[in-house]
Amino acid sequence: MDYLLIIFPIVFVAAINCAQGNGDDPFYRNYYQTWGGSHLTVYNQGHEVQLLMDSSSGAGFSSKRDFGSGYFRMKIKIPEKNSKGLITSFYLISVPVGQPVEGVKHYEFDIEFYGTDGNPHIISTNAFANDLGNREQQFHLWFDPTKGFHTYEILWNQHQIVWFVDDTPIRVWKNNTQLGVGFPTGPLHVEASIWNPSYLGTPDWYQGPFKAHYREFGIDGCNHQSSKQDLCSSQSYYWNQNKYWQLDPKQQGKLQNARKNYMYKDYCKDSNRHGPECQVNQ
Ligand SMILES: *[C@@H]1O[C@H](CO)[C@@H](O)[C@H](O)[C@H]1NC(C)=O
Repeated sequence: MDYLLIIFPIVFVAAINCAQGNGDDPFYRNYYQTWGGSHLTVYNQGHEVQLLMDSSSGAGFSSKRDFGSGYFRMKIKIPEKNSKGLITSFYLISVPVGQPVEGVKHYEFDIEFYGTDGNPHIISTNAFANDLGNREQQFHLWFDPTKGFHTYEILWNQHQIVWFVDDTPIRVWKNNTQLGVGFPTGPLHVEASIWNPSYLGTPDWYQGPFKAHYREFGIDGCNHQSSKQDLCSSQSYYWNQNKYWQLDPKQQGKLQNARKNYMYKDYCKDSNRHGPECQVNQ
C-alpha cells in the first residue's frame, strides 16, 4: 500500500502541469517543420533550430497544438549579415498562412524582425483581429539582435495580449470587445519563419545565405478544445491569474519608456487606420 501514497502526488503534479512546457523542450516535442525542406535544420539534440534563407527558399515551422490562452516565448538570434528585405518572425495565428479558411476569422499577433544593414535594427509588431490587419507598431531595438539570443514573448489571456522583448513590454492589445474590437478566443497556434515579402524589396542575395536561430521550444499554453473554451481562462494556468490581467506599475513604466524612445511608426497615428483600440491600449 505504501507505494501508492508516494506515486499519487507525483502523477497529480504532472497532470496539472502538462500544459506548461519545460522551457528547454526539444523542437520536435511541440513543433514541426511546415516548409523549406533542408533550409530548416535541428541540432544540439533538438535544442536549437536554424532557418536558412537564400534566393531559392526560406523556411518555417509551426506548433503541433492549437491553444486557447498561454504565455508563448522563444529565444531568437536573427541573421548577422546585411539582411535587408528579409523578415524573421515569431507569431500566433488562427489560420494557415496565406490560406484563408471559410468561416475562420483571421487573428494574428506578430513579432517580426525586418532585416537591415544594422543601422538601426527594427522589430515590427502587427495585429490582425477579426480579419482586420494593417496595425503595425514598429520599434528600433536598443540592442543588436544579431549578436546573441534574446527572449521574445507574447502573453495571451482573456484580458490582454502583450508583446515583450527581454521582459520589456512594448505593446498591449486589450480585450476591448465592448468597443467592438476583435479579441481572440482561439484556436491560435504558434509559427516562426524566415522569408522575403515583396514589400521590403529585393534582398542582396550575395550577402547570404542568411541564418536565423531559435532556442527553447517549451510552450506554456492551454490546449484549445472548442467544446470547453472556458477551461483556457482557468486560474490554474499561471498566465490567467490576476497579476497578468494588466501590467504592473513597473512594467507600465517600461512600456511607456519603450514607446516614447523606440517606437518610430504607429498605425494609431494614421487617421485611415486608427481604431477605437488606439485610445485604450496605452
Ligand atoms: C473579453 O472580455 C469580456 C468581459 O469584458 C469577456 O466576457 C470575454 O470572454 C472576453 N473575450 C475573450 C475572447 O477572452
